[in-house]
Amino acid sequence: MSSPEQSEIARFKRQAAERAVEFIQPGMVVGLGSGSTAAFVVQRLAALRGEGRLMDVVGVPTSVETEALARSLGVPLTTLEERPEVDLTIDGADEADPQLCLIKGGGGALLREKIVAQASRRELIVVDASKLSPRLGTRWPVPVEVLPFGWRSQALFLERLGARVTRREGRDGAAYRTDQGNFILDCAFGPIEHPAELARRLEARAGLVEHGLFIDLATELIIVGPQGLEHRRRPA
Ligand code: A5P
Repeated sequence: MSSPEQSEIARFKRQAAERAVEFIQPGMVVGLGSGSTAAFVVQRLAALRGEGRLMDVVGVPTSVETEALARSLGVPLTTLEERPEVDLTIDGADEADPQLCLIKGGGGALLREKIVAQASRRELIVVDASKLSPRLGTRWPVPVEVLPFGWRSQALFLERLGARVTRREGRDGAAYRTDQGNFILDCAFGPIEHPAELARRLEARAGLVEHGLFIDLATELIIVGPQGLEHRRRPA
């Protein structure tokens, strides 16, 4: 059962998602993010199609879960092989800082989310106000996707960078596997002073497939909270 606070957050997420969907134009290729906020985007898109609107929009899903949701609601899908450029992606985030840098990957889909984000002209992030943070790492660990081969060495490397590292587990207690069959190491760094520098260090390490720091990828942010809706754009 959800608490009143959780229902309010869900309402904010839905409002942010529905506002974002207003930016989808006929004929667009749209990246469909992952997580509970992005699910509201897919649902809204399906509802508009039910009214005969945006019928020629096609989606690029960022996870197996989003793909299944879109299929179940009859939202037409394509792939980056067929459509390598995406007009607009709408996705959620776990934490967003004032520069619109993000932590993503709470749902484990960070790799495909980042691939689709980098292929997108616009990356519109939808969050409830609880996701805002003065400094990345304050509220959420950085998920790092690693190959199972050598994962303990990666955990040690990440600890030496200052993180408290936990290998993510599924509900059954076994190691969580991403859509690519990899592990996720959740890395609690605390507030990160230089996220771009940390991102570079992570990218230089073999066996680290991807990390959840999204630096200069979000072009805009739609936030809904008790104060209402705000649309922030990253300065060009
Ligand atoms: C999925 O891997 C994540 O990047 C999500 O976008 C993020 O966890 C936000 O999730 P919610 O919208 O469910 O809060």
